[in-house]
Amino acid sequence: MDVKSTIAFLAAATTWTTTLGRGKPAEEQSNGSTCPVTGQRSEGSSGCPIANMPLPDPGHRCDPKTAGEETKIPDVPPLTEKQREIIKSTAPILAEHGVTITTHFYKNMIRAHPELRDVFSETSQRLGHQPRALAAAVYAYACNINDLSPILPVVERIAHKHTSLHIVAEQYGIVGKHLIQAIVDILGDAVTPEIGDAWYNGYWNLAKVFINRERELYDQAVQSGGWEGWRQFKVDKRVKESDVVTSFYLKPADGSKAPLPSYHPGQYLAVSVQIPALGYKQARQYSLSDKSNGEYFRISVKREDGVPVPTKDSPQVPDHPGWMSNLLHNELQEGSLIDVATPYGDFFFEPSAQEPDAPLVLLSAGVGQTALLSILNSQLDKPNKPISYITVARNEKVHAFGDYIRHVVDEHPNVLYKVFYSSPSAAAVQGKQYDYQGRMHLTQVRDYLHLGNNSAQYYLCGPEEFMVNKLQELKTFGVNEERIHIELFAAGSLPATA
Ligand SMILES: Cc1cc2nc3c(=O)[nH]c(=O)nc-3n(C[C@H](O)[C@H](O)[C@H](O)COP(=O)(O)OP(=O)(O)OC[C@H]3O[C@@H](n4cnc5c(N)ncnc54)[C@H](O)[C@@H]3O)c2cc1C
Ligand code: HEM
Repeated sequence: MDVKSTIAFLAAATTWTTTLGRGKPAEEQSNGSTCPVTGQRSEGSSGCPIANMPLPDPGHRCDPKTAGEETKIPDVPPLTEKQREIIKSTAPILAEHGVTITTHFYKNMIRAHPELRDVFSETSQRLGHQPRALAAAVYAYACNINDLSPILPVVERIAHKHTSLHIVAEQYGIVGKHLIQAIVDILGDAVTPEIGDAWYNGYWNLAKVFINRERELYDQAVQSGGWEGWRQFKVDKRVKESDVVTSFYLKPADGSKAPLPSYHPGQYLAVSVQIPALGYKQARQYSLSDKSNGEYFRISVKREDGVPVPTKDSPQVPDHPGWMSNLLHNELQEGSLIDVATPYGDFFFEPSAQEPDAPLVLLSAGVGQTALLSILNSQLDKPNKPISYITVARNEKVHAFGDYIRHVVDEHPNVLYKVFYSSPSAAAVQGKQYDYQGRMHLTQVRDYLHLGNNSAQYYLCGPEEFMVNKLQELKTFGVNEERIHIELFAAGSLPATA
């Protein structure tokens, strides 16, 4: 996804998030006379978006059950002009209660459908990342209801995430039922029949955009030799890349010699594993860290030790080491079996047919190298393409793939490699293991960024703060956002300030 689209989406989503926390709990607003957005009394108030809404019918509760059975996909008509207006004007109310609604929704949905615990990330739910991402998506949808084009790149990213986890059309019924019920539960009588109907229709219109796109992605994957759902793979080889990163080479468990589906460099695959400590499965995505080769998939996983990071929202939530990464490091040995999905992902490198030798700048931090390594490896057959591979690690112990890339540089004079260590140990040799001490600052490597070439493409992968900073630095250097591509190893997008 290009950066502009992410920001456009987030301009809307941030409004949502910044409004959060300012509101009172829904129970405190039960008399319906105080504007949940401005906090003012609503009689005659011009600032309240619900002031002009039809008066609530106290007996009404929008019951999604009556509007369609849970896993059936209803035949909803396109939204009327009036419904668009309702959705737009009630969006701030939803924004006020977005995370309360989505948190309530997940709790009830999981209670009714415990099998979905296998699908959603327990940590992401607990830390509120997923409810926030969902709330932001619904809000952005409402704000762009008259023209969805600014959010289509985000829809594309979510659709890829969904297909990688094998989300199916029927599950939209379950999500729709519980999401609309949660809106009704939290907003109470403010949800008039008209508002309820508008949101019901709105949900299904959006759901259908996802369902159709996801169906296309599944079909494309199957046509190119992939599969729908999970397929068992065997660990053919595991290689320690650093103290914290280990690579797993995966081949089909059935011994099939049919070539594996090809994928674009930068894409990821999902794995699904039973987590004994939880008593159910979890799924996580991992970027493919080698180019497509038909023979094996390689993923390189960082062990997430877990640092206690109390936040304002979850000061008391106990920290735990990452479920999946620790299990993979501890248990996934050569010969072990693991469920794997077909590769997906909207972040990838596609060489321009017009300018195959346009410079390529790959900027990564930590395990963010994986997605960019795949891109690097895919372009090594282009001796005239200038490639700058610039990465930052904490120190030599956690720095992965260093020897491999130095070997690449020896064989490919068009590849330039620069390494930053933020805290090198006394034993690390500058000029050998690393080039710069400290965090990555692009001014230090400005000469390798091909800033004078308007065809140069920039790919970024790393933690959020790193990407926000690199994005800003590139923009300061005059790089057009359309040429900057970002991948975040988490739910959601970069903050709109980037
Ligand atoms: C598109 C994509 C590509 C990715 N590619 C890679 C890749 O190539 N390599 C890679 O290693 N990872 C990659 N990831 C990340 C990966 O999917 C997992 O998120 C990662 O391995 C952590 O999963 P986990 O189950 O180990 O940790 P989780 O259990 O999901 O925990 C995540 C983190 O939260 C911490 N945590 C737990 N409880 C708390 C708490 N109470 N407060 C604060 N923090 C807490 C955990 O300790 C851990 O550090 C990618 C992610 C995406 C979305
Ligand atoms: C219109 C309906 C839906 C919307 C708006 C929506 C929105 C989102 C968003 C914004 C994300 C985060 C994407 C990211 O990582 O960047 C996400 C992820 C996800 N969605 Fe959906 N979604 C919808 C329907 C569904 C359905 C029907 C399911 C299946 C039950 C589902 C399951 C998931 C899962 C499992 C994730 C990954 C996050 C995690 O691991 O917890 N979603 N969705």
